[in-house]
Amino acid sequence: MENALIIGATSGIGKELAKLLVADNYNVVITGRREKLLQEIKETNPEKYITKVHDVTDLNSCETLFSELKKELKTIDLIVYSSGVGDPNYKLEWEKEFPTLQTNVIAATKIYGLAYRFFRKQGYGHLVGISSIASIRGNRHVPPYFASKAFQANYLESLWMKGKRSKAKISVTDIQPGFVDTSMAIGNTFWMSTTEKATQQIYTAIKKKKKKAYITKRWGFIALLLKVVPSWLLYKFS
Ligand SMILES: NC(=O)c1ccc[n+]([C@@H]2O[C@H](COP(=O)([O-])OP(=O)(O)OC[C@H]3O[C@@H](n4cnc5c(N)ncnc54)[C@H](OP(=O)(O)O)[C@@H]3O)[C@@H](O)[C@H]2O)c1
Repeated sequence: MENALIIGATSGIGKELAKLLVADNYNVVITGRREKLLQEIKETNPEKYITKVHDVTDLNSCETLFSELKKELKTIDLIVYSSGVGDPNYKLEWEKEFPTLQTNVIAATKIYGLAYRFFRKQGYGHLVGISSIASIRGNRHVPPYFASKAFQANYLESLWMKGKRSKAKISVTDIQPGFVDTSMAIGNTFWMSTTEKATQQIYTAIKKKKKKAYITKRWGFIALLLKVVPSWLLYKFS
């Protein structure tokens, strides 16, 4: 039986992915700050879910989480970092910038590193990060979020390269969603996927151990455009 850890599984993509993994007979550790939501998920299948109330921005507790899981589970096959925040920040207020940097950059780096070293020691493992289509270019409404996602995407590609060269069998996948209908998506927008459909596609990409996957698939087309569109044109739409 395989073990998975999903960091940030109280809602949205992380919660939905945990459901799919449990349906495939994984034991799934789900984390997040909202204890009540974790409990509600556990009640749906108490034997398969393990809950850990955990704030990723408490960096020391990230280390504790991994040593606890080493003792409790011995091995972990799959680790997904789904935690993320990012509010519009028109006035560039530091109070809004900082939590995004803490969660999407500093804590992400902490967890990616802990996961990679865990897998190195264990000899195998699959790390999945959820960056975003936002990783490709800048955006004037939410600068720290877009920049943090570029950081994640580049970090994950670096880990993918390290994994390829490692003696251990380490896979790394960068998931790049467009718009998914979770609490994170704001307002009416185009090509908004249901959480179920997006997560089903994410799970397929994970099973195929893809290096990178655009979610839903049609966002691969937007990614292509974003990579070539000149800034003088991009800023008119941003
Ligand atoms: N929805 C979209 O359109 C979209 C598009 C591209 C990328 N993404 C990315 O997908 C990932 C999942 O987001 P989502 O759409 O599923 O939104 P969501 O429903 O808001 O889920 C975010 C998750 O992050 C967790 N989280 C936030 N801060 C945390 C902290 N300090 N410590 C631990 N966990 C924390 C939340 O748990 P607690 O609040 O309980 O701590 C929650 O489980 C994010 O990285 C997001 O950037 C989403």
